[in-house]
Amino acid sequence: KRPAGAPDPTLARPVTKVGVVGAGLMAGQLALLFARRLTVPVVMTDVDQARVDKGVAYVHAEVAKLREKGRIGADAANRITALVTGTVDKGQFADADFVIEAVFEELSVKKTVFAEVEAVVREDCILATNTSSLSVTAMAEDLAHPERVVGFHFFNPVAVLPLLEIVRAPKTDDAVLATAFAVAKGLKKSAVLVTDSAAFVVNRILGRMFGEITAVFDEGTDAHVADTALAPMGLPMTPFALLALVGLPVGAHVQESLHAAFGDRFHVSANQQRLIDAGRTSLFEKDADGNDVVTDETLALLE
Ligand code: 3HC
Repeated sequence: KRPAGAPDPTLARPVTKVGVVGAGLMAGQLALLFARRLTVPVVMTDVDQARVDKGVAYVHAEVAKLREKGRIGADAANRITALVTGTVDKGQFADADFVIEAVFEELSVKKTVFAEVEAVVREDCILATNTSSLSVTAMAEDLAHPERVVGFHFFNPVAVLPLLEIVRAPKTDDAVLATAFAVAKGLKKSAVLVTDSAAFVVNRILGRMFGEITAVFDEGTDAHVADTALAPMGLPMTPFALLALVGLPVGAHVQESLHAAFGDRFHVSANQQRLIDAGRTSLFEKDADGNDVVTDETLALLE
């Protein structure tokens, strides 16, 4: 069955090579997924060779883990490993059909990336963004071909969570959208079409939840108490563990976008910001037994 709002699937174009801009954790998860599910070459780029090498090494290590668990055979492991390569040269995207960016959540950074990519790719190459909360429309507006831009928003952990939000911007072409849905199907994700509004649908709803949880925390309630209180709601993981998985800075970017769009309905946590300023991506640290703990040093950072 065609997903609601998806265009005629026969408009979809083939995708035989994928580019991933960024070689961080999200980009690595995307490169692995595309190579594993689409069985096409995936080229990762980043600003320097060290980052590129780290990103490719992450993918190769994840492939080895899948092999050890028996999720994939030796042939598939070798194939995926060979398909994922890295370079600092975006010129390698010249024959790509689909380039997805997963760089820092800052509109100007993403716009620069798209402009650089557009300068080297074919006229019909799709530019997808994995932004969590920024405007896809704004990302497309200064390009020569804004109709090639589409939002392609995955959820952490990418390998496990089935949902994909596909974001249509006002100028997104039907063939681009149809290709995005075809790619989603190839990736075995359940794609839904969402409009281009701040943080789309899922993060907007999560933003309300995290806004209240971090507000309770800012008001002085222990994080574990807030987590325990929510356990009967059957959440798959506790909110502060989820914030750690997503990363405190990414969570804060989502809140900022929502606050900018919808005002005080969305809370930007002062304590979350204090942790981010101290370079932290999680409230927790691991104790000797591997348990998540809030240390006295962490408490000293908070108010
Ligand atoms: N990376 C890759 N794989 C992971 C993983 C990770 N971080 N965490 C767990 N997995 C895998 C495990 O390896 C396991 O795979 P296997 O069956 O092949 O062994 C599978 O997931 C299930 O893991 P577990 O049995 O250990 O644990 P759970 O059953 O508790 O599931 C979970 C773990 C899937 C992470 C579950 O807790 C969950 O769904 N949590 C909520 C996640 C969520 O809400 N994500 C959305 C965040 S918002 C977002 O990402 C948007 C962005 O824009 C900010």
